[in-house]
Amino acid sequence: MTSSNTKENAGLDLSFVRDHFPALDKAYTFMDNAGGSQTLGLVIKNITEYLTHHDVQLGASYEISARAGKKLQTVTQELAQLVNAARPEEVVIGPSSTMLFRILSICLSEGWQAGDEVVVTNSDHEANVSCWMDLQAKGIVVKIWKVNPETLQFDLTDLKNLLTEKTKLVAMVHASNILGTINPIQQISKVVHEAGALFCVDGVAFAPHRLVDVQAFDVDFYVFSWYKVYGPHLALMFGKYDLLKNMPGINHYFIDQIPYKFQPGNFNYELTYSLKGVCDYLTDLHDHQFPDAAKITTKEKYQKSFELIAQHEEKLASILLDYLKTKENISIIGQSTADKNSRVPTIAFVHKDLKSSAIVEKVDPHKMGIRFGDFYAKKLIADLGLEEKDGVVRVSLVHYNTEEEVRRLVEVFEDIL
Ligand SMILES: Cc1ncc(COP(=O)(O)O)c(C=O)c1O
Repeated sequence: MTSSNTKENAGLDLSFVRDHFPALDKAYTFMDNAGGSQTLGLVIKNITEYLTHHDVQLGASYEISARAGKKLQTVTQELAQLVNAARPEEVVIGPSSTMLFRILSICLSEGWQAGDEVVVTNSDHEANVSCWMDLQAKGIVVKIWKVNPETLQFDLTDLKNLLTEKTKLVAMVHASNILGTINPIQQISKVVHEAGALFCVDGVAFAPHRLVDVQAFDVDFYVFSWYKVYGPHLALMFGKYDLLKNMPGINHYFIDQIPYKFQPGNFNYELTYSLKGVCDYLTDLHDHQFPDAAKITTKEKYQKSFELIAQHEEKLASILLDYLKTKENISIIGQSTADKNSRVPTIAFVHKDLKSSAIVEKVDPHKMGIRFGDFYAKKLIADLGLEEKDGVVRVSLVHYNTEEEVRRLVEVFEDIL
């Protein structure tokens, strides 16, 4: 057996992974990762490197400015490759996903008339809801596609009943930040496009766990936040080139280039540059796990790294879900399967008698970061009648969590639940 086989069969090398996150070097367990993940050392190093060596305004002819511009261009190309955008201009950088959705809603709706329609869901974070809802002030009709309260899944027939020839856009979350469910985006995209509408997907709770492939998903717009994907507080919006080209921007009147027309002011150079660290981490992880692998493309490396990540996450999720399923007083809010094709390891539950806040307060002293609340998915929590519980208890795991950490959490829960 070769060493690559050994490593492959052994799964994700957790000590290699954890060594890449300086913050994990302390006696604390981070399980609020859907709130924000820990940052890669490579990302931190890149921020310092940029500010030390390249911190000048872009666009000038002198050497350092030209070099800094090239560096950022290269990183943007890498980011485009990571999400499988067809060209780098399709990648828009912004301060947060909320801001990028807002910018998109303002620019896109310039071409819409009163009476045009948008569909949003009741399981989204408000980032991909409020910006569309607010268009009601200019006569846009907003309809809400609701999850089936029994299965907590979306029914495509319900969507078909909401679509009309006036539907301009459907806005939806890829993976819910509460349910953890991975919605079948490709299948939904087909229905949306057959109705002649655009599809805008919130990938914030998906991107830390699985490879984003905007072409395979066939989405028109796809947004996620890097501070949940092991990077800094910055977000990325993919938009199909022709759509971005043909809609008005939000920058000065003389700025018409993509993506700059959607990036008013300077975008954050040092944080954008740091994202190279996320790409490098994913390829380094592959090369470490499969040292004898035949030469493959960078995209294939990303895929293989995320396959290992998904396998490990499924194991973590199954430990917690298997435990929660044994507790009569607990209802899992989401699917009870750990299947990596169905969910990410963002796991929510409520207790029959205890408030979610009371449970989390008892976990806090154990130096474990979990959380309760509505996580800005307010419509879902309201529709499920969970406001009086103070929302759900949410344990959100990522690939750097260990089985031992999850088992320790189960022990702590055992004293509380
Ligand atoms: C699913 C989801 N969408 C959007 C957001 C908003 O992201 P940002 O803080 O970058 O605006 C969050 C943040 O928690 C989220 O979980």
